[in-house]
Amino acid sequence: MCGVIGYIGTGVTPEFFYNGLKRLEYRGYDSAGIAMLEANKIYIERAEGKLTNLQKKLSNLPKSAHLGIGHTRWATHGKPTEQNAHPHRSDNIILLHNGIIENYKELKEFLLTKNYVFQSETDTEVAAHLLNYELKKLNNSNSVEDNMKKAIFSLVKQIRGAFAFGIICTDEPDTLYVVKYGSPIVLGIGENENYMASGIAALVDHTREIIILEDNEIAFLKKDSIKIVNFSGNEITREPITVNWSSNMLDKNGYDHFMLKEIHEQPQAVAQTINGRIDRNQGTVDLKAYGIHKINLKQIDRIQIIACGTSFYVSCLAKYYFEEFTRIPVEVDLASEYRYRSSTVNENTLCIAVSQSGETIDTLQAIKFAKENKAKTLAIVNAPGSSIAHVCDDESLIYAGPEIGVASTKALSAQLSSLLLLALGMAQEKNKKDKNYIANCLEDLSKVPSLIEKTLALSKPIKEITLKYQHMDNLLFIGRGQQWPVALEGALKLKELSYIHAEGYAAGELKHGPIALIDENMSVVCLAPKDQYYEKTISNIEEIRARGGKILSIGTEGDTSLQAISDDFIPVTKCSHIALPFLTTVPMHLFAYWIAVRRGNDVDQPRNLAKSVTVE
Ligand code: F6R
Repeated sequence: MCGVIGYIGTGVTPEFFYNGLKRLEYRGYDSAGIAMLEANKIYIERAEGKLTNLQKKLSNLPKSAHLGIGHTRWATHGKPTEQNAHPHRSDNIILLHNGIIENYKELKEFLLTKNYVFQSETDTEVAAHLLNYELKKLNNSNSVEDNMKKAIFSLVKQIRGAFAFGIICTDEPDTLYVVKYGSPIVLGIGENENYMASGIAALVDHTREIIILEDNEIAFLKKDSIKIVNFSGNEITREPITVNWSSNMLDKNGYDHFMLKEIHEQPQAVAQTINGRIDRNQGTVDLKAYGIHKINLKQIDRIQIIACGTSFYVSCLAKYYFEEFTRIPVEVDLASEYRYRSSTVNENTLCIAVSQSGETIDTLQAIKFAKENKAKTLAIVNAPGSSIAHVCDDESLIYAGPEIGVASTKALSAQLSSLLLLALGMAQEKNKKDKNYIANCLEDLSKVPSLIEKTLALSKPIKEITLKYQHMDNLLFIGRGQQWPVALEGALKLKELSYIHAEGYAAGELKHGPIALIDENMSVVCLAPKDQYYEKTISNIEEIRARGGKILSIGTEGDTSLQAISDDFIPVTKCSHIALPFLTTVPMHLFAYWIAVRRGNDVDQPRNLAKSVTVE
């Protein structure tokens, strides 16, 4: 979590750091700070709360500085106060941090014996003091840069956990030091200036030439050079990648919230993810274009999909398709649990890590575990060069474009289309479905963008409907088959955005317990489109009605009998079973969005959350 940005060059204003942090605010938004070094003088401003509080203090910073760092925090150690906001200082060391220092207590005890005085409750301040301590131990006749290098090597040997550091030493104003282990950092190459940030989004206004720093690496940024060494001291040469994100992809473009914009970007997200990966003449999946290079799909006899949150629900949905198309057993695991159960995998198991950010620590650690145990590993991620992609045998990007709203929306549709392509590609490789079947499914998938486009027109009627539901304390969501994960996703979105208690259930499971919750005060969102489970779901709806529960149903356009037994009815277009979950998800997102807006909540930055979860 946390967003960091750094600059060294000919000079930038405080707004440079502020605007960069704004692009990263989705990573954490409980306090923020900026340090700028100009004419050998360091200026530090920090503020509790959202970045706008820091904006009020920008005038205290110099008008321009050639070196600086900025941070937006998601609190781990210590409350979200100004005192705990980064950067932290230890004499001539100014340091900010993304990650967690697990052994900070023992280090702090040691530093207290050396008379260091702590101003904050953070783990990060320990790193600042320890670096200062290591630096002071070194011979003064060496250059500051040499000593800083040695001191950083000593620092990284002593700390455990995850860390991306941006460091300024006021005695060495021509270098910005960047250290990475476990938390993401990218470097940006400019003309007579260089940058670092925890996400590409912060840099696209300034450069598209990006170097992804890898674990166990330290970068020394000067205005006209970038030197990278690993923790063993070996110099690393790495070519930059060119990113094609544009600034307007990172703006709201007239929408009130990023989330609403991103819901409306789903047609493009799906189209861009499937484009170039379907051979339309042959009616087949182009697995090379998809990203399968090292993995031999013919050899796979078991699949495990590992993910968190919304990415987990997409994976649950994909299970239905993998099993239907390939007849291979599929397990879907929450990454945070997978790591700690003794999962048995072998060289014929395909483990797929699904992650929008590509940085979720639980997913990263879980896929590392699978790889160590000889499974074949595939990353399905939205962020090029992300940590999860880096550890996997193969990487398949989704092309959702930057997702800024903390609640995932367009990434879900792109992930689902990607998993569908893979399921069909595997069926093709293993001869599990005939050619026409696969071609027809791909045709259905190609229609998804225009079908979603049509479904987005529901925004207005859903906004109206939410008037009635905005003050509820509890809601249930039910569905069968592929609509069950959609129900789980609907409940998650409502919880995280509106802070209303919501639970998702398999419709058939209701009678095994949750039906006890039904009375005239309980509303149930029922996903009941005309699919193979329709009649059974209708029976469950009747059971709810019989107990006085209120029904908000999502069904197939023209289904007057469902409408008749519902208090409210949201229709989606009749479509194939491939397209259906894409369409029923749209009302789930819009429903949560409009309720949160009506309740006056911060839709893009819900309380207690952060977009990229890089702590366990
Ligand atoms: C919910 C949401 C989260 C993420 C989860 C995984 O709206 O956005 O549940 O889906 O934190 O994140 P990624 O996909 O980046 O691994």
